[in-house]
Amino acid sequence: MIKKCLFPAAGYGTRFLPATKAMPKEMLPILNKPLIQYGVEEALKAGCCTMAIVTGRGKRSIEDHFDISYELEHQIKGTDKENYLDEIRTLIQACTFSYTRQNEMKGLGHAILTGETLIGQEDPFAVVLADDLCANPNGKGVLSQMVRLYEKYHCSIVAIEEIEPKNVDKYGIIEGEEIEKGVYKVSNMIEKPSTQEAPSNLAVIGRYILTPDIFNILRVTKPGKKGEIQITDALLQQAKAGKVLAYKFEGKRYDCGSIDGFVQATNDFYHTLYHKV
Ligand code: G1P
Repeated sequence: MIKKCLFPAAGYGTRFLPATKAMPKEMLPILNKPLIQYGVEEALKAGCCTMAIVTGRGKRSIEDHFDISYELEHQIKGTDKENYLDEIRTLIQACTFSYTRQNEMKGLGHAILTGETLIGQEDPFAVVLADDLCANPNGKGVLSQMVRLYEKYHCSIVAIEEIEPKNVDKYGIIEGEEIEKGVYKVSNMIEKPSTQEAPSNLAVIGRYILTPDIFNILRVTKPGKKGEIQITDALLQQAKAGKVLAYKFEGKRYDCGSIDGFVQATNDFYHTLYHKV
């Protein structure tokens, strides 16, 4: 039912400068795979075949990554290195990629609205923030879990996790009533509140399922925190109509937009993928 996944990928990645000066942060690798490829794989496993990527200046390598490199193919054809490309080739065949550019940085809500031309007004869609890397080695991916929930409730869904109260000012924070285990009906949500303002320690992470009416809401959403158009504010409008769920996902999320999270993901993936114990 959810066939399209939107990837806002226009941000500057300032926390990773100078690495991200000439290279998109979404292309930073955990082991040998760029962050955005993990996101695309998660989306594909959840049933999305159309990847809609909102890029910006200096992001051409994302487009090149999800395309065939004839020169490279030619060079390694018939050698023992050919299999290194198998995974990405399969992905390219299974998905369609489309791109649009966000030419002004006006926040996550604005990035999602920019993606409307790729997503359309008809169907619900997923959103993945590639620097939130999610792993659930022995179970379903986070988006797959959310798609299953969507099939039951047919409304917007945000993935959440419990965080330390001192970190509430880094996230969208929700307030809600638990209607089944790990599923909350959202009554309030605040973008990056202070510890005093925060209604809970349940933080939104970079996985969303959005119903397409979100675009019309975003169009009239005023700039909020940091003067940016926030998806949290638009979702609050849907929540007021009782149409947003928050879901405590199974698995682990790494904040790969921070050096700490990035290193932790690298270590954990290295041990899980290469040194199975
Ligand atoms: C964005 C959202 C925030 C959410 C976070 C998850 O913030 O605005 O609500 O909690 O992603 O990673 P950003 O990290 O882009 O500042």
